[in-house]
Amino acid sequence: MDLNIVILAAGKGTRMRSSRAKVLHQLAGRPLLSHVIETARSLSPKKIVIVYGHDGDTVKESLDAPDLEWVLQENQLGTGHAVREALPYLDKEGQVLVLYGDVPLISKATLEELIRTKEGKELGLLTAELDDSTGYGRILRNSNQDIVGIVEEKDANEGEKKIKEINTGIMLFDSSALSNWISELKNDNAQGEYYLTDCVRLAASDDNNVAGVKCSDIHEISGINNRVQLAELERVYQRQYAIRLMLDGTTLADPERIDIRGQLSAGLDCDIDINCVFEGRVKLGDGVKIGPNVVIINSILGDGTLVLANSVIENAQIGKDTTIGPFARIRPETVLADKVKVGNFVEIKKSTIEYASKVNHLSYIGDTKMGSGVNIGAGTITCNYDGAFKHQTEIGNNAFIGSDTQLVAPVKVGEGATIGAGSTITKDTPDDKLTLSRSKQITIDGWERPEKDG
Ligand code: UD1
Ligand code: CA
Repeated sequence: MDLNIVILAAGKGTRMRSSRAKVLHQLAGRPLLSHVIETARSLSPKKIVIVYGHDGDTVKESLDAPDLEWVLQENQLGTGHAVREALPYLDKEGQVLVLYGDVPLISKATLEELIRTKEGKELGLLTAELDDSTGYGRILRNSNQDIVGIVEEKDANEGEKKIKEINTGIMLFDSSALSNWISELKNDNAQGEYYLTDCVRLAASDDNNVAGVKCSDIHEISGINNRVQLAELERVYQRQYAIRLMLDGTTLADPERIDIRGQLSAGLDCDIDINCVFEGRVKLGDGVKIGPNVVIINSILGDGTLVLANSVIENAQIGKDTTIGPFARIRPETVLADKVKVGNFVEIKKSTIEYASKVNHLSYIGDTKMGSGVNIGAGTITCNYDGAFKHQTEIGNNAFIGSDTQLVAPVKVGEGATIGAGSTITKDTPDDKLTLSRSKQITIDGWERPEKDG
C-alpha cells in the first residue's frame, strides 16, 4: 500500500532558548529534522510532507529537496490541527505515517514493525513503557488489552496518571479513515488543542481496530525539548555508531570519545585514538591508525596510513602507508600518493605530492605539483600568492630542497635538482644541478661587541 509520511515540525521549541528553530539544532553534525527525513526516505514513501511553523522559513530553506512537500501551519493549534493542514497534500488512498521533527533517532526497523503490525487495521500506534510517564499521553486499554484511547497528562485523572504505557506520538493511519477522524476532532480539552491522539478513541469504536507496537529502545522515541536532551541523544547516537565500528573491526581507544558527524567507513584493523572527529564522508582503508585529537573531513585514506596526534585533514585523498603529523594540516584538494611523509607543523593546500616524497617539518606547500622522491627541507615555503593571484609551483622527481627555501611561484624546480638552504628561488631551476641564491658569508675582523658601562 502506498505510504505517505507527515513530519510534524511546527512547534516553537521555546525550551531550547534559541533564535534558531528547534529542528535545525544539530545532532551528529546535521539538523534534527534531516535525521527524520532520512529515516522517512528509507521507507520509500510516495510523499513526504513536512508541517513547519511561521518562524520556519529557515527550516525550509536549509533542508529543501525535490521530494519534500512543505506545509505552513500558521497557528499551532495542536497535533490534530497540524495533520489537518497536511491533509490536502496527502493521497486519498493508502497509509499515512506521522513522525516528529524533534524525535531524531526513530529507526527504520521500528517503523517497519509498526507497518507490519498494523496490517488489517485502521490505526497503528507506537507506544513505550516508561518508569516515569509524566508529561506523556497515557495509553488506555480495555480488559482485553485492546487499545481504546489516549489521555493526555493534563486531562488525565489520578488513576490514569499511574499508567506507565505512553504514546510516543508516532502513528500510522489508513488515509481515508484519517481524514474522517480529523474532521471529527474537537478542542474541548484542558489545552484547548486539537489532539491527534483523539483519533485513537474514534478508531477504537470499531472492535480490534487499533494495533499497538511497544518500542523497547527509549532513545528511539525520545523527543528533544532542551539542550540537555540534545546532548544526551548526541551521546546515544555516537555510542551506537562507535559500537557498529568496533563490531565491524575497528579498535577504538575509547568509544565514549569519538564523534562522527557524517559517515565513517573503515576497513579491517583500523585503530582510532581518543577525541577524534570525523565529518562528512570519510573512508579509511585497512590498518589505518589515527592518533588522538585528529579531525578528518570528507577524505579518503589508503591502507596502512598513519595520522599522528593533532592533525587536521580536509577534502583530501591520501594514499597507502603515508604518514601525516603530528600537528599537520592537510587542506582541501590535496592528493598525497603512497608512502608520502608530512611531518609536524606542515600545511599543504591544493597540491599533489607523488610517491615517497617528504615534507617533514615546518613548511607551507600550496598550489604545488610535486613529483616522487622529493625531499623538502624544514621551513620551506611556496610563495603562491602575490596579493592578487595564486600561482603554481612544480617540483620535479627526486629534487632536494634545502631548508628555509622560498619558492616564489610561478616557478619550476627541475628533476633531481638541489636547492641550497636559505635560497629564494624566483626562476626555474635546471635538472640535476645545485642552485642557490644566498649572499656570501663574511666575517668582520676587529669588530667588537658593544658593552654597557660598568
Ligand atoms: C504529544 C502527544 C502525546 C505524546 C507526546 C509524545 C498529542 C495531543 N499528544 O504531546 O500523547 O505522549 O506527544 O512526545 O498529540 N506540533 C506541531 N503543531 C502543533 C502542535 C505540535 O507541529 O500545532 C508538533 C511539535 O513540533 C512536536 C510534536 O508535534 O514535534 C508534539 O507536540 P507537543 O506539543 O510537544 O505534544 P505533546 O504535548 O508533547
Ligand atoms: Ca512534547
